[in-house]
Formats: sequence, structure tokens, C-alpha cells
Amino acid sequence: MHVLVVGAAGQLGRAVSTHLANQHQITRWSHADHDIADPQIADAVAALSPNLVINTAAWTDVDGAESAADAAYAANALGPKYLAEGCARCGADLLHVSTNEIFAGEPGRFYREYDLPQPAGIYARSKAAGEEAARQILDRLTIVRVAWLFGPGGNNFPAKIIRVADKHGALRVVSDEFGNPTYAPDVAEAIAHLIRTGCYGIYHLVNEGHCSRFDWANFLLEASGRGHVPVTPISLHEWPRPAPPPRHAVLINQAAAALGVRLRPWQEALVDYLRNEP
Ligand SMILES: NC(=O)c1ccc[n+]([C@@H]2O[C@H](COP(=O)([O-])OP(=O)(O)OC[C@H]3O[C@@H](n4cnc5c(N)ncnc54)[C@H](OP(=O)(O)O)[C@@H]3O)[C@@H](O)[C@H]2O)c1
Repeated sequence: MHVLVVGAAGQLGRAVSTHLANQHQITRWSHADHDIADPQIADAVAALSPNLVINTAAWTDVDGAESAADAAYAANALGPKYLAEGCARCGADLLHVSTNEIFAGEPGRFYREYDLPQPAGIYARSKAAGEEAARQILDRLTIVRVAWLFGPGGNNFPAKIIRVADKHGALRVVSDEFGNPTYAPDVAEAIAHLIRTGCYGIYHLVNEGHCSRFDWANFLLEASGRGHVPVTPISLHEWPRPAPPPRHAVLINQAAAALGVRLRPWQEALVDYLRNEP
């Protein structure tokens, strides 16, 4: 199968294109190659005519989106629309990557694939709009929602925690925000599995288990030999951000699990990640 990976230089795009390269012919498009916010991307997709387009490209600066709504919507809502139009013209399938942030994240709630989105900030609204835009155009569409992504070389939460721990020797970390830490290479493997099933629809591909950012930081420090670094729990109110995050946008993988596609516990994935990171 000829697979076009869009966003191929990003954290998930790298993992997906590397993983699928064993089984498929891969074309990689980075931001430098093509801008998904440009309507002409539809012509480029139609001209290439792959069997499947995997869109991992997005405006991912969640806080920055609050002061750049047009740019965030262009990439996250119009981008998937143009890609879907390109797919419709050449008969390609589209697998579009979305986020747990589309949910309200009410404390104590767990979100399954068909729960209703209730996005709050600009980033979340633009991502929810992207799902809807693709859905309006394509039937043969797969939406994969991920959460709290980390992977080799990414500027992600574990990398930031390790940087701050090594620089300052102490940390303050939010203890009332919960999510599913999710390892990009595990998502890539799960996507490969999902493609083999031939099924479409919405899937929550997250590592098993969930935790607070505080728990995540503590596990990471312990597992990386930094267990001596003190971590003070703080509340979200003490860490004000332009885009207040959903407090408990914890995803349940029901639909993919029913097809036999499950990701291992996040703690195991994090230990794997640490083998290759400083
Ligand atoms: N990171 C997370 O914690 C997280 C959580 C939930 C969901 N997600 C979703 O997962 C997906 C992958 O995230 P990630 O962590 O791999 O993000 P990432 O590392 O920031 O990669 C995103 C890639 O998209 C590219 N891009 C941005 N705007 C573009 C445009 N207009 N046209 C073409 N390419 C563009 C970026 O290129 P430049 O950097 O050169 O602009 C970057 O290489 C995204 O859909 C994101 O919304 C991420």
C-alpha cells in the first residue's frame, strides 16, 4: 500500500513513518514540503494518489493558539478539510489524528469514542472542527485520538521535566490534571494494526492507565535515576495558562480494544522511552 504521512517531521509523524516503512511504500511530507493550511494541498494529494493519507500535522502550540486563532484553525480545521478533499478526489482513505482535549474533562469522567466533544480553548475547538470537517467529506475515514504524547526527540512533558530537574534540582508539578501518557511509537504500532483490520471510525489509541501530571513526573524521575529530586504538588490554579487544560480528559480505548488493538501500560512505555533519552 502507498501511504502518505503528513506532518512526517513531527513527534508522531516520525514514529508512524518509521514504523510503517517496514510494511508499506511511504511518502513523507513535512511542513517544509507542503502546508496543509493551503487549499492547494488537495491538488497535491490528488496528484500523488496514495492509497492512504495519515495526517499527523497540526498546530500543537496549545497556549499559543489562544492568541493565533486564525492560524490554529487554518492548520487544525481547514487542513484536514483540504486533505479530505484530496482523498475524495483520488479515492484514498484518510486517517486523521486528533486529541483528548476535545472533551470537557470533567473531574472523574472517562471518555469513550462516541462521547460528545465539548472543546473549551481555541486549540481544542480547532481540533474538534477538523474532525467534523473531515467527517463531512469522507465516509472512509479513521479518526485516531491520542493524549499526552511523548516520543524520542520530542519537546514533550518528560523531556521538559528532565530538563528542569537537571537545571534547578527541584520541581513544582500540577497534581489535579489527569490524562493518559501515550508513547508515540506505541501509537504508530497500533495504527499499523488498525490499518490491517480494514475498519474505519473513531478510535482512542492511548497507553493503558492514567495519572496526574504530578504522578507522571514522579514516576519519570524515579525511573530515570532522579528520585532524589523533590517535587511539590500544586493545583492548576497555581499554574495559570492562556489555555486552561481539561482537568480529566482521560480516554478509554474501547473501539480499538474490541478489534484486539491495545497499547501497553504507560509506565512500561516510559521505561522504554528512557532507554533512548538522556
Ligand atoms: N503532543 C501531544 O501531547 C498531543 C496530545 C494529543 C493529541 N496530539 C495530536 O497528535 C498529533 C501529532 O502531535 P505531535 O506531538 O507529533 O506534534 P508535533 O511534534 O508538533 O508535530 C506536528 C507537525 O505538524 C507540522 N505542522 C504544523 N502546522 C503545519 C501546517 N500548516 N502544514 C503542514 N505541517 C504542519 C509541524 O511542523 P513545524 O513544527 O515545522 O510547524 C510538526 O512537524 C497532532 O494532531 C496533535 O494535535 C498531540
